[in-house]
Amino acid sequence: MARRIQPALSEIGDAARALRQGKLVAFPTETVYGLGGDATSDRAVAAIFAAKGRPSFNPLIVHVANIASAAQYAELSPKAQTVARAFWPGPLTLVLPRRRDCKISLLATAGLDSVAIRVPAHKIAQTLLMMAGLPLAAPSANPSGRLSPTSADHVMADLGDKVEFVIDGGACSVGVESTVLSLLEDRPRILRPGAVTAEALSEVLKEPVQIEQGVEDAAAPRSPGRLLSHYAPTLPVRLDAAAAEPGEALLGFGPAAPKDALNLSPTGDLQEAAANLFTMLRQLDDPKHLAIAVMPVPETGLGVAINDRLHRAAASR
Ligand code: TXA
Ligand code: MG
Repeated sequence: MARRIQPALSEIGDAARALRQGKLVAFPTETVYGLGGDATSDRAVAAIFAAKGRPSFNPLIVHVANIASAAQYAELSPKAQTVARAFWPGPLTLVLPRRRDCKISLLATAGLDSVAIRVPAHKIAQTLLMMAGLPLAAPSANPSGRLSPTSADHVMADLGDKVEFVIDGGACSVGVESTVLSLLEDRPRILRPGAVTAEALSEVLKEPVQIEQGVEDAAAPRSPGRLLSHYAPTLPVRLDAAAAEPGEALLGFGPAAPKDALNLSPTGDLQEAAANLFTMLRQLDDPKHLAIAVMPVPETGLGVAINDRLHRAAASR
């Protein structure tokens, strides 16, 4: 069983040492908990794929402490530098060309000539990256295809027997995974919506930023976060529900929801809703119900990311 540790410096030091020995450590970020391993070690990266049961063609996000470390692994075009300066540290992942001399394991990038990099804003993640002195490959710390973890309890329940340490940083403030922005082509494309919105990116880049629509080819996904059935609870999910049908559990949103229902945000606040999303879906994902019915969430700001995850959760599998 994993050692669950508090974020004291000496404890984070133990976790950093374990990472340098090729072991796995789950740690909090502002988005969701990550399942971290040394991104330069094929062995550590293989252990991440094994722990998640993740198809190995799915590339992982590499976490680094700052822009300078990112520049060791990826080519940062002027455009990339502009967004990095505006949004890092923060809930944004950039897909960039891999540098020729990039030391990241080819397994982590699934043999692609690009690499997904992010500088997390969470203090514990930052401290861990500094102390380990390594780039950390870290997908969300959940079994492949299931809901992402937003608390140490979630990680212990899902992967407690597969990691050395779980660093307990409490609940994640953002609650949905980072925005993934590809800067590989002329036009910037959002492969996965998140807290950094298309509007915010296009304002900084001074050009339109498209959200990639449609579903990836499951046999060769460029961004598996875009596979239709992803982030799924065990129960079926019904969207745009006005009320619960018999046997359904209701996940409410806003002041119109019944008082006895779990509510993503009684005041209709999208930030609060994102932070509650995965925890509440987990709470309702109980075999005593037949399905989870979810009330509509507006498609603005963070609502785009929330609806993206809800649509995937509802996709038939
Ligand atoms: O918020 C997050 O991003 C969390 C925390 C732990 O940082 N991490 C996370 O990682 O969600 P993961 O591995 O579950 O999601 C990685 C996403 C997937 O959608 C993957 O397809 C995409 O990034 N990705 C990674 N490398 C890529 C690449 N070279 N090209 C295109 N997409 C890539
Ligand atoms: Mg994930």
